[in-house]
Amino acid sequence: MLFWRRLIHVTFTGLLPRFLLLDQHMQSRIILLITQVSDVVLTTQSLCHAENGLSPKQILFCQRHLDIMPFIRFGTNLALEECRTQFKNRHWNCSLFYEQKQIENILDSGTKESAYVHAITAAGIAYAITKACSTGRLASCGCDMSLQSKSDGTTKWSGCSDNVLFGSEIARKFVNLRERPMKNKTSLLNIHNNQAGIKTVQSEVDRQCKCHGVSGSCEFKTCWRSLRPFHRIGNQLKEKYDDAIEVRLHHSKNKLRLIARNSPYESQTKSDLVYLNQSPNYCERNVTYGSFGTYGRLCNRSSRAIDGCELLCCNRGYQSQIVTYRDKCNCRFTFCCTITCQECIQTKEISRCL
Ligand SMILES: *[C@@H]1O[C@H](CO)[C@@H](O)[C@H](O)[C@H]1NC(C)=O
Ligand SMILES: *[C@@H]1O[C@H](CO)[C@@H](O)[C@H](O)[C@H]1NC(C)=O
Ligand SMILES: *[C@@H]1O[C@H](CO)[C@@H](O)[C@H](O)[C@H]1NC(C)=O
Ligand SMILES: *[C@@H]1O[C@H](CO)[C@@H](O)[C@H](O)[C@H]1NC(C)=O
Repeated sequence: MLFWRRLIHVTFTGLLPRFLLLDQHMQSRIILLITQVSDVVLTTQSLCHAENGLSPKQILFCQRHLDIMPFIRFGTNLALEECRTQFKNRHWNCSLFYEQKQIENILDSGTKESAYVHAITAAGIAYAITKACSTGRLASCGCDMSLQSKSDGTTKWSGCSDNVLFGSEIARKFVNLRERPMKNKTSLLNIHNNQAGIKTVQSEVDRQCKCHGVSGSCEFKTCWRSLRPFHRIGNQLKEKYDDAIEVRLHHSKNKLRLIARNSPYESQTKSDLVYLNQSPNYCERNVTYGSFGTYGRLCNRSSRAIDGCELLCCNRGYQSQIVTYRDKCNCRFTFCCTITCQECIQTKEISRCL
């Protein structure tokens, strides 16, 4: 769903390589990328197909909103990169299979991992659309100007505030189009977790101001509200993943609801991640359950934490080898303005799980 599959292909065909250059700390880069997104709008039409993982209703949405689709794809990409960074050293490292059916195995598994993927994807899409609005890339939205009325003698709310509500609304609509809560109980769970991702974006808004006044004094300020870097949203959701709440389905008055298994001692809020099923054992390969296993994974021989070989390799053992590689070294700045380096042969030890 949501181009997960398409994205994996993109990685290999290099269709949109700049989407993949994201660095978690490069907020300004994200904005820059957002401003470049629209020039790929022409290729969007070919994306409105089931083979890219879209549901029938999402295909209709795609055809009607060709202008928004590049940002939806961008947001999905942002989410995927963030997920991979967050889970780099875990048994489940956010890798997804190529086959649509197998991607769905994990998306609809009702596990904590599925909860995270839904939440981060919805968040990524809401984020991308919001930034697209603020940078004037979408005709249907702009900055949120509703704060202007809050201006007073020293503070003017006249900067471009991120229009988080608009971005959230589109993201929620798009991701939920895949779900059929009347038909499938897992959908109830997915809708909840989508919403949790969006709530997390909405909570990560910060006030930013620019000072004006005599020689840098802050006598007068122009302020606006801005989303924090996406990496922070990824961190928040990772914490929610670690604290995810196990729920069960409960029929009451002809309505199906999710209630915490541990209720009344525990109950979920709208921004918590919830799951129905225990995770599979990600140590072993099990395609039906969306697990790659950890065979062949790189591990750290001297670490006792989860990235260490004992834990990551699930006590199966590991193999270490010394590898040599070429690297730049002895770099010197020469006036003006080049940097010249030599090439050195370096060695390091790498270990992989058996
Ligand atoms: C509901 O989702 C589960 C989990 O993916 C799937 O196995 C099942 O076929 C779906 N049921 C319906 C009625 O679509
Ligand atoms: C995959 O995991 C399920 C649930 O743990 C188990 O029943 C099944 O046998 C596993 N399949 C393989 C091929 O290991
Ligand atoms: C994640 O794990 C899979 C399967 O073990 C591996 O092929 C892949 O390279 C890993 N990805 C990263 C980013 O480490
Ligand atoms: C491996 O783990 C050790 C101990 O935690 C740490 O000091 C070192 O930086 C790690 N190495 C890599 C390559 O991450």
